[in-house]
Amino acid sequence: MASFNLLLLPGDGIGPEVMGEVKKVADFLGSAGVAKFETETDLVGGSAYDAHGVAITDAAMKTAMAADAVLFGAVGGPKWAKVPYEHRPEAGLLRLRKDMELFANLRPAVCYPALADASSLKREIIEGLDIMIVRELTGGVYFGEPKEIVTLENGEKRAVDTQVYTTHEIERIARVAFDLAKVRRNKVTSSEKHNVMRSGVLWKEVVSKVGATEYPDVELDHHLADACGMQLVRWPKQYDVIVCDNLFGDMLSDVAAMLTGSLGMLPSASLGAPDAKTGKRKALYEPVHGSAPDIAGQGLANPIAMIGSFGMALRYSFGLGQAADLVDAAIADVLASGSRTRDIAAKGANAIGTKDMGDAIVAALKKRV
Ligand code: IPM
Ligand code: MG
Repeated sequence: MASFNLLLLPGDGIGPEVMGEVKKVADFLGSAGVAKFETETDLVGGSAYDAHGVAITDAAMKTAMAADAVLFGAVGGPKWAKVPYEHRPEAGLLRLRKDMELFANLRPAVCYPALADASSLKREIIEGLDIMIVRELTGGVYFGEPKEIVTLENGEKRAVDTQVYTTHEIERIARVAFDLAKVRRNKVTSSEKHNVMRSGVLWKEVVSKVGATEYPDVELDHHLADACGMQLVRWPKQYDVIVCDNLFGDMLSDVAAMLTGSLGMLPSASLGAPDAKTGKRKALYEPVHGSAPDIAGQGLANPIAMIGSFGMALRYSFGLGQAADLVDAAIADVLASGSRTRDIAAKGANAIGTKDMGDAIVAALKKRV
């Protein structure tokens, strides 16, 4: 039986609760003979800051670099609102992305039929929705230099963030998007603001060139990022794969998440380039939702995005596409049976907790394996 090393970084808030449910799924797949998962656990975010004074330690980074995949929960919360900027909880996640060179962030937004009524949009708009947002994750305004607040001679302050992209950064994320489109519905929409940003001009030019020269059979559209946000809530099913920069991807993926009913539903994969020799790529999997401090520790959080993220690890890191399909199907089974955590329950309807949802998914998986 194949064996894989996982680094679990549960983080803060609801992170540890939802990660607990992933462990159940991983253990079950081990006992069912699908694959063995050796896990190590470490701190990230505010919990790492409390213990070590940094948002992630060098030792945890070393383990992350060596792991077959990293599973990440969530970071942040009001408790750490005043820690120095460079040690804020989010810095742990950003260091993981940057140091592991996880440039490609895949954020699928799929509307489960049973959940079509949980969305704030009308059923016909989101029923059957299946889109993939491909977000560039190691460049753009998140990491561009200078990034600073300086005091001017007149005493006023001046803040600068730098939006910067080079040709190769755009080319490699465009290829990820086109490759995904080829095994989906063959359509890429590239989103930027070339009407105001030079980086948008280059983005559009490079994506167009990659499309025309390397993927002539894939349909390519360009939507300005603001219009793309509008179209996502107007008629999201027009999209297949959307490719965009780091900041627009952050925003558009939150919009897309809500189409599916709840932020608690959306998994994501952050991937590096395949190693030239081994073909293996560094990878981190995390739910799109945050640490939800308001419900942390109460056993109310929805573990589906976290379990779905593990499903993406099965697919993209371990070559276990069939097992990934089973996990997705088990989630759909549980939703179809009517089980709901609070975030996706109809108003006034009964809701189950984090652990019960995890148990239900494992039970559904057992029936399918
Ligand atoms: C996300 C989050 C992060 C981001 C935060 C936690 C730094 O919002 O993964 O979408 O902005 O990228
Ligand atoms: Mg975000």
